[in-house]
Amino acid sequence: MAKRPEWLDNAVFYEIYPQSFRDTDGDGIGNIAGITEKLPYIRDLGCTALWLNPCFDSPFGDAGYDVSDYCKVAPRYGTNEDLEELFREAHKLDMHVILDLVPGHTSWDHPWFKESMKAERNEFTDRYVWTDSVWEEPTGYGSLRGISPRNGSCAVNFFSHQPALNYGFYKPSRPWQQAMDSEGPMATRKAMMDVMRFWLSRGCDGFRVDMAGSLVKNDEDCKGTISLWQDVRKFLDAEFPEAAMVSEWGEPDKSLQGGFHMDFLLHFGPSHYNDLMRCDHPFFAGDGDASAFVAKYLENYEKSQRKGLICIPSGNHDMDRLARNIKGDRRKLVFAFLLSMPGAPYIYYGDEIGMNYVEGLTSVEGGYERTGSRSPMQWDDSRNAGFSTADAAKLYIPQDPSPDRPTAAAEAADPDSLLNEVKKLIRIRQDHRALQSLGEIQFLCDGAPGKPLAYIRSEADEKILVVVNPTEAAYELPAEYTPEETIYSFGKGLDGHRVQGVSAVFLKIR
Ligand code: GLC
Repeated sequence: MAKRPEWLDNAVFYEIYPQSFRDTDGDGIGNIAGITEKLPYIRDLGCTALWLNPCFDSPFGDAGYDVSDYCKVAPRYGTNEDLEELFREAHKLDMHVILDLVPGHTSWDHPWFKESMKAERNEFTDRYVWTDSVWEEPTGYGSLRGISPRNGSCAVNFFSHQPALNYGFYKPSRPWQQAMDSEGPMATRKAMMDVMRFWLSRGCDGFRVDMAGSLVKNDEDCKGTISLWQDVRKFLDAEFPEAAMVSEWGEPDKSLQGGFHMDFLLHFGPSHYNDLMRCDHPFFAGDGDASAFVAKYLENYEKSQRKGLICIPSGNHDMDRLARNIKGDRRKLVFAFLLSMPGAPYIYYGDEIGMNYVEGLTSVEGGYERTGSRSPMQWDDSRNAGFSTADAAKLYIPQDPSPDRPTAAAEAADPDSLLNEVKKLIRIRQDHRALQSLGEIQFLCDGAPGKPLAYIRSEADEKILVVVNPTEAAYELPAEYTPEETIYSFGKGLDGHRVQGVSAVFLKIR
C-alpha cells in the first residue's frame, strides 16, 4: 500500500470544471484566475483540496480530455504562470490542488501523433498503438484508418479523435503488438512521468488520472496496468513522495494495489454507486435499495485491506447532477452520508447548492448528455448569475434558465440552506477523526428496501454511530448502543432509541 501524504487523512475535495466556474475576463468561459478568485469561497465551505478537470492546450473535442500539449495551459484559461499562482494561493490557505492527467490518449492534433502518422520511422512511430497494415484493425478497439501516409490503423481510446498511447500489450499475439517492456511503450511511460514531473515541480500536489485502468492493452485482469502504475509509484516515492494520486478506475482493489492512494466509485463498473442517487428508484429518494452498494463497498474495503481511500463523489462532469433525482431536503441526507463515509469525499462544483441538471442542452465540446451537468456556476443574482460579464449568448454553456435556480449568495444568507448544511457537515467531519478518511466502518444496516443506512465509524477511542434514513419508517437503534451525545441531527432525528423517518443523526457511543 502506498505511503500517503498526511493531508489526505482529512481531505475534502472540490471538483472544478474550469470552463464553468468563474470567468474574470468576460469572454464567456471560465479561467484559472476565476478559480483563484473563488478560493476563499471553497475554503469557507470547508474543502481542503481541488481537482481541476484538464486545463491544457487542446482542440476541445472532448472538453480538454483530448490534450495537444500536456505542459501548456490552454490560452482560454490563462497561462502556466496563472496556474502556478493558483497553486501558491491555494497553499497559503492550506489547500492542495490536483490536476487531471490523461495518460491513455492524446488529441489527434498532438505533435506526437502528427509525427507518428508519418511513413518514415521517427521518435514517435511507436508512441501510439498502430497495426502494421491499414487493412488490419486493432481488434477490441475503435480505430483511425486511412488518414495518414503510414500504412496502419491506429487504436483509439475513447472518441475517434483520441488515439491510444502505446504502453504495450500484456500478452502480444500479433506482430504489431509490442510488449510492455519494449522500447516504444517504455518511452511513452517515461514521457508521461516527465509530464508529471513538469507540474509537480511547479507546485501541483498530485493528479486525478483519467481512465487509469486503460493503459496496457489486452490486459484482462489489469495485471500489466497495475505493474505499470507500481513503476510510477516508485518514481513518485523517490521524487515526489507528497504527491496525491487518485484514479478514475472504479476498482479500488486494483488501483490501490497499483500505488494509487484513492480510487473513485463511479457511475460505471460494478460499484452499484448509481443505486444511491441515479436510477429509477434511488436509495436517497426514499424507496430504493442500497444493499448491493454496501455489499460491493465492503468487498472493496476488505480487498484494499481497509487502507486505501475509496472515494464517493457527489457527482462529476460525466454524470447527472444529483439534484436531478433527489429533491429538496433529501439532498442534505446525501451529504450526511457522503461526509460521514471513509475515504476522501469529492464535491462536484455546484452540488453544494443543489444546482440542477439543465435539461435539453445541445452538446458542447463532446459533452452530449453530460452537458446538462456542466452549466456555469451560479454565484448570485447579478448578470449571468455572477459567472461572467459576457453577453448571455456568448457563454460556453448556457446558464440554468429556471427562475428559482439556487445561488451561492442566497444560500449563504439562509441558515436552512443546503450550502449551510454541507458546511456544517464538513466542519463536524473535520472535528472528529473517526469520521475522516481512515476511520474504520462497520455497517449495522445496509439500506435494503424500507431500511436506512446505519454504520459505526471508529478511530482509537472515538466511536460514532451514523444513521441516514431517507425512508418514511423509523429505525430502532440496536439495544446495545446507548448514544452519549448527538453531534449532528437533521430532520426529526432521534426520539428515545428511534431514528425518525427522513432524518440523519451522528451519535457518539461508547
Ligand atoms: C474520462 C473523463 C471523461 C472523458 C473520458 C475520455 O471518463 O472523465 O470526461 O470524456 O475520460 O478522456
